[in-house]
Amino acid sequence: LPARFLLQITFPLMMSVGAAVIGSLQFGYNSGVINAPQKIIETFINETWYDRYKEPIPKSALTIIWSITISIFSVGGMIGSFSVGLFVNRLGRRNSMLTANVLAFIAAALMGFSKIANSWEMLIIGRFVIGLHSGLSTGFVPMYVGEVSPTALRGALGTLHQLGIVVGILIAQVFGLEMIMGNHGMWPLLLSFTFIPAVIQCVLLPLCPESPRFLLINKNEENKAKTILKKLRGTTDVSADMQEMKEESRQMMREKKVTIMDLFRSPLYRQPLLIAVMLQLSQQLSGINAVFYFSTLIFEKAGVEQPVYATIGTGVVNTAFTVVSLFVVERAGRRSLQLLGVLGMAGSAVLLTIALALLEQLKWMSYVSIVSIFAFVAFFEIGPGPIPWFIVAELFSQGPRPSAMAVAGFCNWTSNFIVGMGFQYVEELCGPYVFIIFVAFLLFFFIFTYFRVPETKGRTFDDIAAGFRQPAAGGAEKHSPEELNSLGADSQL
Ligand code: GLC
Repeated sequence: LPARFLLQITFPLMMSVGAAVIGSLQFGYNSGVINAPQKIIETFINETWYDRYKEPIPKSALTIIWSITISIFSVGGMIGSFSVGLFVNRLGRRNSMLTANVLAFIAAALMGFSKIANSWEMLIIGRFVIGLHSGLSTGFVPMYVGEVSPTALRGALGTLHQLGIVVGILIAQVFGLEMIMGNHGMWPLLLSFTFIPAVIQCVLLPLCPESPRFLLINKNEENKAKTILKKLRGTTDVSADMQEMKEESRQMMREKKVTIMDLFRSPLYRQPLLIAVMLQLSQQLSGINAVFYFSTLIFEKAGVEQPVYATIGTGVVNTAFTVVSLFVVERAGRRSLQLLGVLGMAGSAVLLTIALALLEQLKWMSYVSIVSIFAFVAFFEIGPGPIPWFIVAELFSQGPRPSAMAVAGFCNWTSNFIVGMGFQYVEELCGPYVFIIFVAFLLFFFIFTYFRVPETKGRTFDDIAAGFRQPAAGGAEKHSPEELNSLGADSQL
């Protein structure tokens, strides 16, 4: 990173962001943890059933219980993400994150004791509760991180939310190996492990400051905001930041608290809302979780000999390329990385389709399938993985931000749920051609991004919001994204 970026990385800033993204890690861990030990947990459900009813569980009942155990997590996520606005303005950003840990403790207890209690119902409720927690995290974390970050680092630090998620997935994949915790004796521990990050976050967060933007704009506590900003920025001169926030605050007088209904009604938010929602859909309808939920299955079908290790390989590639994105996002910008990412994913998906289709004739196509899945994941993390999460906080100013995060998060979780539920059925119908559906979506999102998504790199929140106000006031769509970019994107570089 260039020196001008490094100078802004202070210990209090890293500590705050680091403590926050433990919430992201929880989300990643819990979305990845249930896949490897499927067979083992199914045995537990079967035994419990036998104890109660003195007969083996019918196959259909087992399938239903297992599908619910998996997908109830996303249902919790939808509800959690939609509820973000109920907390962030009342409790503040930091205390919202702190309070949410209650859910992690409850969930860990429910899942961890489900075996002793002979109750798969406890497992299901636990998954629902940790889903609520994860849904809240996907709103709280990007919001807090966006608000404490200096403008020039907002994208890089915003990407740490995604890094937390992918590290969580990777830890879950490794811990889920049979020789570690993915076995009959230890799976309850594997699931209740979520307890530990919660404890760590409860220790660290009280040492971190509240978002200065929240204190100044929502609470009108100017002095407190200033003191915190000085610590976060590591300098006594924070007048530029203060000035910018006050400007935003003045703008906000007109839009003090924007409810979800207001967000849909006002033409002022139509553009950014459309962009925010489309980017969430591009993340999930890219098919990324078809890989993360079913990679072992896909690798098995592709004739890979050690599918579990290939799955861990996807986790490693996933993490590595999130780090790449972290380092380039402030230079390349959001728009170009998003474009490159979706296009690269589409190319990789075409390659995967060819590999799967030719598998019967050419055995070595199984290697091509591994390479194309790795490429698919790598391109995802370059853009469509991290960017949608943090860009919502960038596209909206303080007033509408909580409602916008709620709507965006809800769209993300709902489309995640649909892919998770639907993929296996569609795969049965389309066979090796299933990924072509994602190619169609990806090309659509490429075109949308090209024409509609402005660059937000290096621009203040206020400037970005002003960019959207202008075209609405002065005749429709006169400004192309490139023009909006020039409003300030490069002025700081
Ligand atoms: C994103 C997605 C999540 C996915 C993950 C994979 O965070 O929101 O659904 O599993 O990336 O890295």
